[in-house]
Amino acid sequence: MKTVSNPAVGTAHGKIILMGEHSVVYGEPAIAVPFPSVSVMATLTEKSGSITIESDYFTGELDQAPHSLDNLKAAVQVTCEALGQSASGFHMHIQSTIPPERGMGSSAAVAAAVIRSLYVHFHRDLDREQLLRLVNVSETIAHGNPSGLDAWMTSGEIPVYFQKEKPFEPLPLQMNAYLVVADTGQKGQTKDTVRDVSRLEQLYSEEARRIIRRLGALAEQAKVAIQEKNPVQLGECMKKAHSQLMTLTVSNAHLDRLVAAALYAGALGAKLTGGGRGGCMIALAADRMAAEKIAAALEHASAEQTWIHSLGGD
Ligand code: PMV
Repeated sequence: MKTVSNPAVGTAHGKIILMGEHSVVYGEPAIAVPFPSVSVMATLTEKSGSITIESDYFTGELDQAPHSLDNLKAAVQVTCEALGQSASGFHMHIQSTIPPERGMGSSAAVAAAVIRSLYVHFHRDLDREQLLRLVNVSETIAHGNPSGLDAWMTSGEIPVYFQKEKPFEPLPLQMNAYLVVADTGQKGQTKDTVRDVSRLEQLYSEEARRIIRRLGALAEQAKVAIQEKNPVQLGECMKKAHSQLMTLTVSNAHLDRLVAAALYAGALGAKLTGGGRGGCMIALAADRMAAEKIAAALEHASAEQTWIHSLGGD
């Protein structure tokens, strides 16, 4: 007789790119942080017959789920294969506060939560390496060629400094400051902006390369600011990075308005995060009161939603 946990729960959270988006594609360093203010929980209960799911986007048989849930289907499929179990006999409830297509890693987080819940359900241990492997396999089936960053960040607790084709370096971040995150309410346009930066790089290689190198240098300076627990310095790096990203054409009017509103409300720095032309922006605040003032200013400037995240100084 097989033993199962009923119900079985798996969780994962969001991620934010702090510095280095776009330039990271060209080999420059970047920094990303886990973002536990948004999360996903998968709850699995045993039932007979085919797999059914309940989520904000679809409720019904997993086989009938729309393409937007391909990551979930893939996660179930690869995990059941890895566990040597048949893909049937349970109901899965997915609850998520991670807005999709905002560069917060929603897809990888859903996969990580589902995989964890399946391992709990079947009473099997899951080490980090196996989790990352399964998330990356399911992300590859669902979307193509993931960098591995989203899998790493949505299932881990420590910020990382990373460069293409090099192992992620843990970068502990604990400073007396707050990150304010705002959602524009628009989907991020990572595919388009990455393509457009590559066109710029081909057409104006010298100028584009200079901006890309500058963004890499700013990520490097931000790493030092984090190690020295210096929020003022980190804020400066963020401000400068945003203007370089504007020059690379990956911002838009909404993001620029939110960045300006955050700075006007006293942020130490502010920038878009992720692919750009939508998605989210981030601002750095010196203390909680400042963070609340900045979040209010961002909502006034028509952010759809804001979050305040302590960087661990208190
Ligand atoms: O859209 P996001 O947050 O997953 O970030 C994309 C980051 C880019 O540097 C623009 C693209 C990439 O593949 O690194």
